[in-house]
Amino acid sequence: MKKILVTGGTGYIGSHTVVELLNSGREVVIIDNFANSKPEVLERIKKITNKDFKFYEIDYSNREDLEKVFEENEIDAVINFAGYKAVGESVQKPLEYYSNNISGCLVLLQTMKKYGCKKFIFSSSATVYGDPEVVPLTEDCKIGGTTNPYGNTKLFIEKILQDLYISDNSWDICILRYFNPVGAHESGLIGEEPQGIPNNLMPYIVRVASGELKELSVFGNDYDTHDGTGVRDYIHVVDLAKGHISALNKLDKEEKGIFVYNLGTGIGYSVLDIVNAFEKSTGKKVPYKITQRRPGDIAKAYSDAKKAKKELGWEAKKNLEDMCRDSWKYIENNL
Ligand code: WQD
Repeated sequence: MKKILVTGGTGYIGSHTVVELLNSGREVVIIDNFANSKPEVLERIKKITNKDFKFYEIDYSNREDLEKVFEENEIDAVINFAGYKAVGESVQKPLEYYSNNISGCLVLLQTMKKYGCKKFIFSSSATVYGDPEVVPLTEDCKIGGTTNPYGNTKLFIEKILQDLYISDNSWDICILRYFNPVGAHESGLIGEEPQGIPNNLMPYIVRVASGELKELSVFGNDYDTHDGTGVRDYIHVVDLAKGHISALNKLDKEEKGIFVYNLGTGIGYSVLDIVNAFEKSTGKKVPYKITQRRPGDIAKAYSDAKKAKKELGWEAKKNLEDMCRDSWKYIENNL
């Protein structure tokens, strides 16, 4: 049976997507170098799905190692999650980010071409929209204006994919622009585990709730939003994972092309909305203080998710309570 290659398949979004791929009857090959994940995720995926898969501990940018994967497996499509994703770190380490995220992706695409595999799903980000002129964001909104190397890598790879398709329209490509992934699988076995002090809101909140961190700093309450704090489109990681299955089903159809989809809920919540929802759904207190704005932050960003619903038959189903409850359950199980 033809297999789906998942790069970065032991990471946060990658592991949740592998679970959904296996549950949908697909055969999976994971490659990962554990740069931002742990080997135990492999057993946890097997425990959740009661299914097996192949795994190679390699760096996807190592051409020789990658070719071995394609030699040993008939790969039908590739989902590329591999890449560094910490905005702040990318400002400190631009060369590592451009090398790993962009050069790695180029080696992957060249290897795919060499082995005649031209179905590709790319993990992009709403960050490519920069500071939105209008919200909600549709896929034809202007992209660019990214403010950090991480965001640049997503933008540049989207442009590389557009150029690749223009050069050879036998490629079949889905670019998926994630909004703000949060939550965890209901089993509490896999979830988000950033290294060190979390940059993102929900991982920080759960660590305050657990007592590991003292209080949440709310980065500014003077934005032009309903309560002055930043508004984002938070999407449950399981909904996000299922969006990849829908994208893969589209690539299985004969129609070739390059397609861009927002994967969001279409609902914007503020920082304080999230704090209140978390306290309500978990019963845990989240002490916070209002501090200065975080440099580079934007006031408001949320999606118009109609295109994915129309063309992929996909929409987010889980609500904010699910996101908070599952985020907390993962930390409770893995403290
Ligand atoms: C959300 C809101 C903060 C932490 C980033 C990347 C994006 C994607 C998701 C990878 C903002 C506020 C946060 C805190 C706070 N990453 N906040 N206190 O910045 O929307 O997006 O993560 O794909 O590419 O840009 O997410 O969770 O960092 O912030 O007040 O301790 O929470 O100001 O309004 P962001 P975030």
